[in-house]
Amino acid sequence: MKDTVLKYAKSLRARIFVIVLLVGLVPIFLMKHLILENYEELAAQQKSTLIQNQCQQIVDQVGSSGYIRNVGNRQVDRQLTQLANIYNGRVIIVNTNFRIVRDTYEIDEDKVIISEEVLQCFLGTDSTNYNPDDEFLELTLPVNDPGTGQIEGIMIVSVTTQDVKDGKDALGNTVLILQIVLTLLIFVAAYYVARVLTKPFGKITQSLAGMRGNVSEQEIAIPDYTETKLLADAYNQMLHRLKVQEDSRQEFVSNVSHELKTPITSMKVLADSLLAQDEVPNELYKEFMADIAEEIDRENKIISDLLSLVKMDRRSSDVNIQETNINDLIELLLKRLRPIAATKDVDLVFDDFKPVVAEVDETKLALALSNLVENGIKYNQDNGWVHISLNVDNKYFYVKVEDSGIGIPPEDQENIFERFYRVDKSHSREIGGTGLGLAITRSAVLMHHGAIDVSSTEGEGTTFTVRIPLKFTP
Ligand SMILES: Nc1ncnc2c1ncn2[C@@H]1O[C@H](COP(=O)(O)OP(=O)(O)OP(=O)(O)O)[C@@H](O)[C@H]1O
Ligand SMILES: [Mg+2]
Repeated sequence: MKDTVLKYAKSLRARIFVIVLLVGLVPIFLMKHLILENYEELAAQQKSTLIQNQCQQIVDQVGSSGYIRNVGNRQVDRQLTQLANIYNGRVIIVNTNFRIVRDTYEIDEDKVIISEEVLQCFLGTDSTNYNPDDEFLELTLPVNDPGTGQIEGIMIVSVTTQDVKDGKDALGNTVLILQIVLTLLIFVAAYYVARVLTKPFGKITQSLAGMRGNVSEQEIAIPDYTETKLLADAYNQMLHRLKVQEDSRQEFVSNVSHELKTPITSMKVLADSLLAQDEVPNELYKEFMADIAEEIDRENKIISDLLSLVKMDRRSSDVNIQETNINDLIELLLKRLRPIAATKDVDLVFDDFKPVVAEVDETKLALALSNLVENGIKYNQDNGWVHISLNVDNKYFYVKVEDSGIGIPPEDQENIFERFYRVDKSHSREIGGTGLGLAITRSAVLMHHGAIDVSSTEGEGTTFTVRIPLKFTP
C-alpha cells in the first residue's frame, strides 16, 4: 500500500513537472521565431523607406536635368554613383525604349531590360521587392518629365541587405542566451512546483504508513490546501467511525461470550454438586435437572436471538417481502402471548382502528412486535395491562405498545436498543432477559425503513411507537 502510494506520488510529480515544463518552454521557443521574423520584416521596411526617400530626390533631379535624353550630366552621374556606393548597391536608369542608359556597374549599358517590375512602373506603379534569401532589396521608381509630367524613364535601385541579416543574427544570439536562461529557470520552477504540489500526498503516505496493527488513533493533519484539509478531515472521520465500529464489535464479542458462558457455568455447578454426592435424593435430583433444563432453554434462546440479529444485520440479502394483513399478524402474535400474559394476570388489549395491508417481511415484523409485547408483559405488575393499537395514514402504519409496567429511567431510554443492554441487571436476570429483544426489534424496523420511539415514566408505564412504510423500498 505504502509503496503503491509512493509510486503514485512520484509519477504524479513527474507528470506535473513535464506539464509545467511544456507550458513554460513552448512559448519560449515560439518567441525566438516570432521575434526574429518581426525584426527582419521591420528592418527591411525601414531600410526601404530610407532608400526610397533618398532615391526620390535623385529621381527628381534626373527628371529635371533631362538626364535621360541627354546622358552625361556629371553632377547627376556623381549622385547616382554616390547612392550606389552608400548602400553598396547598383543603380540603373532605363528610358522609354526599355534601354539601359546608365548602369553604375557599367556592364549592362545599352542593353534592353523588360521585366514585370519595369513594365508595371511604366504603367505608374512603383515597387519595392525584398528578397531575404538572396539578401537584396530592389526598388523601381518612375522618372517624370517636370514639364509634361510624363514618365520618361525609370530608375532601378538594388541594394544588399546584408546588414539586415547581420542584425538578425546578432539578435538571434541574444534571444538564444535569453532562451537558455529562461529554460533553466523554468526547469527549476517546474521542479519546485511539482514538489510543492505533491508534498501533501507524501504526508498522507507517511501518515498511513505510520499506522500499524489495529485501528489507529493517530489522526492526520494536512493543512496545505483546502482540498487536502478536507481530505484529511474525511479520513479522520472514517478513522473515527472505524474506531467506534471496532469498539462496538469488541464489546459485542465479549458480551456474547459472557452471556453464552453464564448458563454453562450454572449447569456445571448444578452437575458438579450432583456428582459430588453419593446418594442423591430423587427430589433433589429432579430439581437440579429441571434447573439444568432451564439453563439449556436460556442458552438456546440466546443463540436463536443472536442468529436473528445476524440475519437482520445482513439486511436486504434475505428479506421476504409480501403483502401482509397487519391486523391478522398482530392477532396471531397476541394469541401466542396470551398464555404468558395470563400467568401474570396481565390483560392484553388490541385496538385496530382500520384494516391495514402493507408490504413487510412477516416473520421479522412479527418477531419485532412480539418482543415489544413480551417486554410489556415481563416488565409489568400483576393485574397490569398491555394495550396494542394499530393505525394508518396514506404512507405509514403505526403500532403502539403501551403498558402499565415499571417504566424505564430517562437515562436508560436511549440505551435500551443496544445489544445486551438491560436496565436493572439483577432484576432483569430474575425475569429472564438477555437484552437482545429490543436490538432485534430495532434492526427489523430499520430493515423496513421505519422508525421506533420510546416514552416512559418510572412506576407508571412505557409506550413504544413503531412506524413502518406501507410500501417497501429495497
Ligand atoms: N416495557 C418495558 N418496561 C420497562 N422496562 C423495559 C421495557 N422494555 C424493555 N425494558 C428494559 O429494557 C431492557 C432491554 O430490553 P430487551 O427486550 O432488549 O431485553 P430483555 O427483555 O432484558 O431480554 P430479551 O432479550 O429476552 O428480550 C430490559 O432489560 C428492561 O430493563
Ligand atoms: Mg425483551
